Formats: sequence, structure tokens, C-alpha cells
Amino acid sequence: MALRNLRYEGDEILRKKSKEVSVVDDKIRTLLEDLLDTMYAHDGVGLAAPQVGILKRAVVIDVEDGNVYKMVNPKIIARSGEQIGQEGCLSVKEKKGIVKRPMNITVEYTNENGETVILEAEELLARAICHEVDHLEGILFVDRVKNK
Ligand code: CO
Repeated sequence: MALRNLRYEGDEILRKKSKEVSVVDDKIRTLLEDLLDTMYAHDGVGLAAPQVGILKRAVVIDVEDGNVYKMVNPKIIARSGEQIGQEGCLSVKEKKGIVKRPMNITVEYTNENGETVILEAEELLARAICHEVDHLEGILFVDRVKNK
């Protein structure tokens, strides 16, 4: 178990675009484990690599639906509907905001074993995936809050 230091809003690394991961190796698997440890230590439901200062396309999610997702190179390939709800972020201290997201998405990603997975997600899981994929583009939820 290893915790990594979180980066916070104002840190320019959170505004950079993360790079594609070419090979899922032990280094990436360790990163995914560390992301999970760090996320749980801070009571989060998702964490993206740039939030610990690593500009690689890797995210973890646990919205307490019984699954733990480790996603490498996640790409949202379909989206439909909408949901409006509150979001927060471990990198944005003490701020919450209302953000509109798709209700349903389909995401394609590589898992920790290097296998391609296509996942359909709705509601909170869809929201979490959109939020984490945004991090890989240098986007924070506060950018999407209306009337901020
Ligand atoms: Co976040």
C-alpha cells in the first residue's frame, strides 16, 4: 500500500492533457493500486493519475456499486440522456457544484491485465467516469458548474 500526494486546484499539472499508456505493465499496475489507496484514504469515489502528479491516462473508480474499476486509456464512445447533480473533487477542497452529465455512457478502456473492456454505465457511475475522464483532459468539474 502506498499513498501518493494529492495535487490541488491551482497546480498547473491538473490543467495538462495526460498521455496515452502504451503498455499496461507493473509500473502502471502499481500506479492503479496507489491511486486506489489514495482515493480510499481520502474517502473519494474516483481518482485520476494527474491528481497525484502523473500525466498518464489512468483512473480508478469505486462508487460503492460492488465494483472497483481500474481504467487505462478510458474513452467515452457513446453518451445519452442527462442528469443534473452535485459533484466534488479531491483536488478541489471544500467546493461542491451542480454539474450536468449524461445519464448513460459507454466507455471503452484497457483493464489492469491489458484487456479491452467495453462498459455501459448509468447514473452515479456514468457521472464518475465523465468526471475522471475530464481530469485526463485537464478539465475540473468547477469548469462545468453553471453560475459559478
Ligand atoms: Co476530481
